[in-house]
Amino acid sequence: MALDLASRNPTLMRKKKLPASVTARLMRSAKEVMKNAHAPYSKFRVGAAILLANGKVYSGCNVENASYGMTNCAERTAIFSAVAELGPKIEILAAAVVNDQGVPCSPCGACRQVIYEFGPDATIFFQGTGGPKQAHITELLPEGFRLP
Ligand code: THU
Repeated sequence: MALDLASRNPTLMRKKKLPASVTARLMRSAKEVMKNAHAPYSKFRVGAAILLANGKVYSGCNVENASYGMTNCAERTAIFSAVAELGPKIEILAAAVVNDQGVPCSPCGACRQVIYEFGPDATIFFQGTGGPKQAHITELLPEGFRLP
């Protein structure tokens, strides 16, 4: 079930910079869902949470498979859950990614492209090599693909 941050903060969606309470909420959701990861092969649990323009938060974890290539990253699990519940007209304002080892972990290339599809102006919060970091999706994915 999605969290609804807009009902608590109706001005949320007009602000460019997210309040610290919102980013903290995203991080908490990501950490919580990380516990559900299915990661017996890599032993690397990941959680992601996305904030939508309608104020809702969706979260997802990585789901691995014995056929390794079938693995779904936490970010895509979160996004696909949101689309499954709300349909394709979602806009991602922000995403947070955490892992259980506290090591640097930014969204993989595939996830960057999927984030870009639904959040061309999204801000991504993740663990960088020098500590917690935030970056615009187009910094992580310059020239993201769109069908002409
Ligand atoms: N993984 C994610 O879920 N998100 C990321 O941003 C990086 C990697 C997962 C995929 C796989 O289950 C495990 O981490 C090791 O690659």
